[in-house]
Amino acid sequence: MTTISFARGVPAPECIPVELLADCARAVVERDGATVLSYGSPAGYEPLREWIAERHGVEPGRVLVTNGSLQGLVFLAKRFAGERVLLESPTYDRPLKILAAAGVEVVAVAMDEEGLELEGLEEALASGDKPAFLYTIPTFQNPSGRTLTSERRRRLVDLAREHDLLVLEDDPYGLVRFDGEAPPTLFELDGGEHVLYSSSFSKTIAPGLRVGYFVLPAGLERELEALAVSTYITPALLGQATVFEFLRRDSLEPNLERIRPLLAARRNAMLESLERELPDARWSRPEGGYFIWLELADGADTATLLARAGSAGVSFVPGTDFGGAPNTARLAFSFVSPDEIREGVRRLGSLVAEPVSV
Ligand SMILES: Cc1ncc(COP(=O)(O)O)c(C=O)c1O
Repeated sequence: MTTISFARGVPAPECIPVELLADCARAVVERDGATVLSYGSPAGYEPLREWIAERHGVEPGRVLVTNGSLQGLVFLAKRFAGERVLLESPTYDRPLKILAAAGVEVVAVAMDEEGLELEGLEEALASGDKPAFLYTIPTFQNPSGRTLTSERRRRLVDLAREHDLLVLEDDPYGLVRFDGEAPPTLFELDGGEHVLYSSSFSKTIAPGLRVGYFVLPAGLERELEALAVSTYITPALLGQATVFEFLRRDSLEPNLERIRPLLAARRNAMLESLERELPDARWSRPEGGYFIWLELADGADTATLLARAGSAGVSFVPGTDFGGAPNTARLAFSFVSPDEIREGVRRLGSLVAEPVSV
């Protein structure tokens, strides 16, 4: 039996615009090969930096384009090594590991269905050393799929101003919205003073290009640029130039319009199947992104369940990997087909219902 994976937060192969990217890659090598095949600016391919700067209404000197946005997070973690960072719980597991490896002290603040709990944030701000920054994924959060409400976004920006708190808004999923109205980003609400913004073309074009970016205060951008030089001299310019060519041809919006229904069909298949197969569980209902957060009955343990999931032909990531409770799990609907999702959730339902022999 082939395992159906709800563990992989990656796009389904049909979401990747392969032919168009092949054409863009060829075009940039032919047009600007001597630049993109050489060393260049450590901050990224200049035309792409300028495009991103214009999109966010900042000077290009505030934009750092990295080999995937996680690489930028590694630089930021190095810059703030030994300091204290607040983050929402649960949160994406890779930043947890990156921050721990850099010797950053991590303080978790609880979330509910409406995103980060601001009372908890105020408590964390009132005790201990001033944090270097707050790391948050306000839209279609990884792993929970939750989105911070507009009201809380405004209050969070007010709190950042009151406490002179830097906030890192990690926003790779914001454009991958299938329905509902997009709330303003924290960056837009703040005007880019207290909010650092990171995003990526991994979910909007293709993850294998490894193109992510940060919008930072100019001083911090220069500091991270220095770390970039000593790490890789120049990021991979061919991927960045290919992304730029894609954008220059106005292909981003049509591509988003193409992938939104592909992903929405998967999200719908998962929600409908959960309704049918897991009557005693609860789950998030995201309007976009890649993930649904599953909460089984109290006392359930998804790590134990995962140990038996292999033979049942389904996989997922236990919530504890993200700092969540033992009865939670992250289900990615992005990769497998709607039919596989229906079958995978059926397998998951049987697994949960199965009595455990001791
Ligand atoms: C919240 C979040 N940030 C960053 C990333 C990584 O993005 P990139 O591919 O640009 O490194 C992911 C990928 O899953 C993510 O979910």
